[in-house]
Amino acid sequence: MRPGNTRAIEEMFNSISSRYDFLNDIFSFGLHRFWKRKLLEVLNPTFGEKWIDICCGTGDMSILLARYMKSAKNITGLDSASQALLVARERSKKKYSSIEWINGDALQTNLASNEFDGLLMSYGLRNLSSSYEGLREALRILKPGGRAGILDFRSFEGGSIQGLFQKIYLSLYVVPIASLFGLGQEYSYIKKSLVNFPSGEKQIHLALSAGFKKAEYQILAMGQMGILLLEA
Ligand SMILES: C[S@@+](CC[C@H](N)C(=O)[O-])C[C@H]1O[C@@H](n2cnc3c(N)ncnc32)[C@H](O)[C@@H]1O
Repeated sequence: MRPGNTRAIEEMFNSISSRYDFLNDIFSFGLHRFWKRKLLEVLNPTFGEKWIDICCGTGDMSILLARYMKSAKNITGLDSASQALLVARERSKKKYSSIEWINGDALQTNLASNEFDGLLMSYGLRNLSSSYEGLREALRILKPGGRAGILDFRSFEGGSIQGLFQKIYLSLYVVPIASLFGLGQEYSYIKKSLVNFPSGEKQIHLALSAGFKKAEYQILAMGQMGILLLEA
């Protein structure tokens, strides 16, 4: 599957939704939650604010956000994959039933402008057909002064040890393990999605040209992950 094919990406995420969280724990050794929590600590969402988790998938980040804010009110999770949202709804129904789950497109959410105090996106931007359009839409739905945090794999340009490590990790760890569950092709997509994904520096440039007032990029996980921090 080629990156940028929105319909195919939606189908892929629908097809892996029941195994997604389990495999995420295996592939990151459980560390993805630590990186997500780090993102929350940096942004420090506070009780009473209105936040949205774009590309929420099975709801991991939204639920961590609710836990962090000690309230599930005023939290929205949005994703294009309806099956992933079913998992999210099921996971949140006991303690976090106030989270609103919306089936929608990150590039055209149909949400009102200037609605949210904060926006999160974990491992979503790389999957959009246009990072720039995704950032434009994020800016539109944020209130002026609103903050956003985008967590994803780092994209490396040219040769580097960290880039080499990433290739080896994806090809020799992620894909073979996913293949054991019949999902090798689906997970080989991660490597493809990184080919045209902008580096941290380029993400800053893209965000500023999309209209964000401030943008900075922080590196996590011994250089393998990055968070783009934005102010609308
Ligand atoms: C790698 S998953 C990340 C899920 C979750 N945020 C996490 O960190 O575990 C990427 C998610 O982006 C969603 N996605 C991809 N393109 C999208 C789009 N155009 N609009 C909304 N969601 C999209 C997929 O359906 C998938 O659930």
